[in-house]
Amino acid sequence: MRGLDGKVAIVTGGGQGIGRALSLRLAAEGCKVAIFDLSTAAGEETAKLAGPGATVRTWQLDVSDLPAVQAAVEAVEAELGPIWALVNNAGWDRPAPFLKTTPEFWDKVISINLTGNLNTHYAVAGRMVEHGGGRIINIASDAAKVGTAMEAVYSACKGGLISFTKSIARELARKNVLCNAVCPGPTNTPMMAEVAGTGPEAEKWKAALERGIPLGRMGEPEDYAGIVALLASEDGAYITGQAISVSGGMNMV
Ligand SMILES: NC(=O)c1ccc[n+]([C@@H]2O[C@H](COP(=O)([O-])OP(=O)(O)OC[C@H]3O[C@@H](n4cnc5c(N)ncnc54)[C@H](O)[C@@H]3O)[C@@H](O)[C@H]2O)c1
Repeated sequence: MRGLDGKVAIVTGGGQGIGRALSLRLAAEGCKVAIFDLSTAAGEETAKLAGPGATVRTWQLDVSDLPAVQAAVEAVEAELGPIWALVNNAGWDRPAPFLKTTPEFWDKVISINLTGNLNTHYAVAGRMVEHGGGRIINIASDAAKVGTAMEAVYSACKGGLISFTKSIARELARKNVLCNAVCPGPTNTPMMAEVAGTGPEAEKWKAALERGIPLGRMGEPEDYAGIVALLASEDGAYITGQAISVSGGMNMV
């Protein structure tokens, strides 16, 4: 992709799953990558996988903690340089029927999947404006577009994230800060492994899911790396305010 070499990119949740694949791809494109993750060890493992030639550093934090996010953003600019791209990927859920969940559970889901993203935009977007531009890529979900049983509050957060992306894209377009959302479908990640479980029931559930996907398989973390690199690059310079599904054709919306 054009224009990524030497640029600084933050990837939240870059310690495993989709965020790891995004971090590795941006590092391969020449970006200096700052991982914001709950787990230092997971971030360091991503850095190891990126290889000795890459610059991949980890800041251990919870994206729902605004002061921690602000302090890390300050440190990233001091250590790596002006931030060009922000990839909001950190997310969390535990599927359950809505009527069996509690307000405490909703608060946790909202604080990570919605407020966490507001925090990072709040800490980073003003700096991008000062630097003359930047790119924000929010990892939402097709669940936001079509709904998902057992994930009502999570889906509401992802829907909110798409609306926020479109609104902030309008606010910041004239400042050359471009904002888009990428919407994965079901993807083989540690989060999915935890949700799906193991054994014959889990395999049956996965097979049924795959039958509903026109391309015939679940997503892999690497399936999102190309679109995210493109949106962060000069090749994405005329794309803003979009919510792009990458889900094997599962939902053609
Ligand atoms: N896996 C799927 O099927 C799927 C489908 C659609 C959308 N998504 C979205 O893709 C993104 C990545 O999902 P994944 O499956 O790779 O998840 P994962 O659980 O495998 O990895 C998430 C990473 O984010 C980090 N993280 C979680 N909460 C955090 C917090 N509060 N602060 C900082 N870091 C935090 C974790 O430590 C982990 O490294 C999420 O936003 C998720 O909602 C996933």
